[in-house]
Amino acid sequence: MANAVISLKSLEKSFKDQKVLKGVDMEIRRGEIFALLGSNGAGKTTVVNILSTLIKPSGGKASVCGYDVQRQPDRVRETISLTGQFAALDGMLTGRENMIMIARLRGVSNSAKVADNLLARFRLSDAANRRAEKYSGGMKRRLDIAMSLIGTPEVIFLDEPTTGLDPEARIEVWNTIKELAGGGTTILLTTQYLEEAEQLADRIGILHGGKILTTGTLSEFKEMYPPKKVEYIEKQPTLEEIFLSITGKKEEM
Ligand SMILES: Nc1ncnc2c1ncn2[C@@H]1O[C@H](COP(=O)(O)OP(=O)(O)O)[C@@H](O)[C@H]1O
Ligand SMILES: [Mg+2]
Repeated sequence: MANAVISLKSLEKSFKDQKVLKGVDMEIRRGEIFALLGSNGAGKTTVVNILSTLIKPSGGKASVCGYDVQRQPDRVRETISLTGQFAALDGMLTGRENMIMIARLRGVSNSAKVADNLLARFRLSDAANRRAEKYSGGMKRRLDIAMSLIGTPEVIFLDEPTTGLDPEARIEVWNTIKELAGGGTTILLTTQYLEEAEQLADRIGILHGGKILTTGTLSEFKEMYPPKKVEYIEKQPTLEEIFLSITGKKEEM
């Protein structure tokens, strides 16, 4: 793939005698949202940790923006930002203080201005001077994602950005991620929710049994697995749909 920003070739990872990744091949294009879909324990975080140079692969190759994760880890770190599965903010600090702290750590010169712009972009200006521990789950995630944008990384990793959030907060975070992708940033997100991949991803890769089973767009998937037969059945709404229509959040999706 000519414009691949992230490339994984025969990537392997074992923890002691447990083979978690058994030859993962995957390419992600510049500017796309790629969802790595897999159930709990499939190895999604392991992939993200290798790409963000936190752990080393046992075999194979991986590169980000042309930099090899093993031979040029410093270069890789300069181009990426990682938002882990658990919020990385300091609850004792305000949202604004969290942002400014990260901006200073990343050597951003006008840290206060950068912080205020990002807080406004993520609709957190009103809450900026409240302690982060007082934020709702959705607000914490938004702050976390805002923090990951400081220093304008080319590639953003979002590891299970909505796990543990209630349906309203999940939609909030989805909208945030959709806005992000508009700016040309490449996003690799991991999720165990089919619906999340459906909502956000340009392309989806399914990680299962230590390998990528399929990669494609949602419409490609639908073509591969066309409905076999039209059946007339009463469709029961899911609890999530009921919850969303009761709380009036459905229109925002
Ligand atoms: N540091 C580690 N040491 C030992 N086993 C690990 C370690 N990290 C992950 N694993 C194991 O690797 C498998 C995949 O984990 P992970 O990548 O976290 O999956 P996912 O993020 O898809 O839920 C799990 O069985 C997990 O227990
Ligand atoms: Mg994980």
